Amino acid sequence: MYLRLSSCLLLLGGLLSLLPAQPRDYLPADFHRERREALRQQLPEGSVAVFFASPVRNRANDVDYVYHQDPDFYYLTGYREPHAMLLLYAQPQQDAEGSFTEVLYVQPRNPRAEQWTGRRLGVAGAQAQLGLQRVYPNTQFAADSQALAAASRILCFELPSDVRRRDAEGSLYQLMQAFRAFSDYPERPDPGRYRIYDLIRSTEVENNANVAQVIDRYLRWNPNLPGDDPIVRYQEATSAEERRQIAAELPENRVDVSSLDYLMNGLREIKTPEELVLLRKAIDISTIGQREVMKAMHPDMSEMEVQGIHEFVYKKYGAEYEGYPSIVGAGENGCILHYIDNIKDRLSDELVLMDLGAEYHGYTADVTRTIPADGTFSPEQRAIYDIVYEAQEAAMRACRPGLPFNGLHAAAQAGVDSGLVAIGLVEPGAFHPYFPHGTSHYLGLDVHDRGNYGPLAPGMVLTIEPGIYIPTGSKCDPRWWGIAVRIEDDVLVTETGCELLSDRAPRRAEEIEALMAEPSALDDFVLPGLEE
Ligand code: GLY
Ligand code: MN
Ligand code: MN
Repeated sequence: MYLRLSSCLLLLGGLLSLLPAQPRDYLPADFHRERREALRQQLPEGSVAVFFASPVRNRANDVDYVYHQDPDFYYLTGYREPHAMLLLYAQPQQDAEGSFTEVLYVQPRNPRAEQWTGRRLGVAGAQAQLGLQRVYPNTQFAADSQALAAASRILCFELPSDVRRRDAEGSLYQLMQAFRAFSDYPERPDPGRYRIYDLIRSTEVENNANVAQVIDRYLRWNPNLPGDDPIVRYQEATSAEERRQIAAELPENRVDVSSLDYLMNGLREIKTPEELVLLRKAIDISTIGQREVMKAMHPDMSEMEVQGIHEFVYKKYGAEYEGYPSIVGAGENGCILHYIDNIKDRLSDELVLMDLGAEYHGYTADVTRTIPADGTFSPEQRAIYDIVYEAQEAAMRACRPGLPFNGLHAAAQAGVDSGLVAIGLVEPGAFHPYFPHGTSHYLGLDVHDRGNYGPLAPGMVLTIEPGIYIPTGSKCDPRWWGIAVRIEDDVLVTETGCELLSDRAPRRAEEIEALMAEPSALDDFVLPGLEE
């Protein structure tokens, strides 16, 4: 016994030493296990939830895009490799080893492939590091034809139609093909269609007026639904008996492509303490980037150079990626909300809108500062800047548990409107096009993170990001043309209000000017010219 135990420990030690080295502050296996359990508790009785890893996307020829795991898959497993799937059963299943509620299929070790594309956890590594109850090679799923057989309902997301065909056993393509066959996956699985079917089935015919209203709303948002036969017949039905008949004949949807969205939104919109550690880090790193750029910026810099400084800071602190393509727009370019060309070669004396976010171990920040390239706001730039600042302050003051989500936008919009009227740029009460986006979204594994957009609650992390954009040619005095300002901060909703997480980067105009006047470590960083 002693010998056997010690040789097991030796083997395990050997295995762990071969596992890919990873930072110690990744989310622990317990976090993912608790999240799976929280989801499992909410699954309909007898159901199974099925998740797939993200596909590998091709950039061109034999170069693929950097792999990014599907955030739901990562949230539930911690697995960061492709060609994998997760089954989560509402009720315990039995096999020869006992009962289990979860199975992860992963890509097996393959020394030859790993020499080219990197280390893999493999089955034993995934078991040791991620701690799921059952881990099998992805090649096995196609043979597990009974994996879904007992499930009364199969919850999944609509399968993407653009997964590259790969005949290798266990590839994502093959996993999805086997899943289609085992689940009898529908030909037209639009989530909206099945949400309406569920609604019709679950509502007493006496409440038909309510159903009709909801159906109308869905039809407006789903252009492919208005012709759907059962829905049209239900809408045109004139008697309760007719409606009951239509409900009874609706196509079965054992495959449910609509419910997981709501369930995952509900889980991911509230951040756990472990997630907050990573989010705070991502946000802190991003604000340090903003500070360093404020000190380093001068009119001869290019937009791309500014982008490079931010991203260098991210890497310096171990943030692996940017959470979204970096936006650095000087003057008129700032009016393009998601301007990512960053191609202007001289900032001159323009305002520079910088919307960037470090992604740290999967969690992304989303912070925008808008600063004058020459270190001093012109009177027009300052007037617009202060309006956006005050609008943001108003939204921050409104931010507390119970506020309807759109209350943040209402507060910011009122601030922008009254500010623009006060400087004579807009007539009182007149519509204006200068604030064309929303004020807030959830933040987490996705920059526009999952959530159900209900009332604010403690544990939510959101952005507050009013803006004013005045492109050349706008119907106002030309002295305002080409000015674009967005100020974007990240906040945590607390029990009593909200905590500003991104306050390390100055927001007030005077504070920005003061920091821009400080010397930068980059002042002496001079590179040789390129040969003509
Ligand atoms: N960076 C994208 C956004 O602010 O929503
Ligand atoms: Mn944002
Ligand atoms: Mn942003």
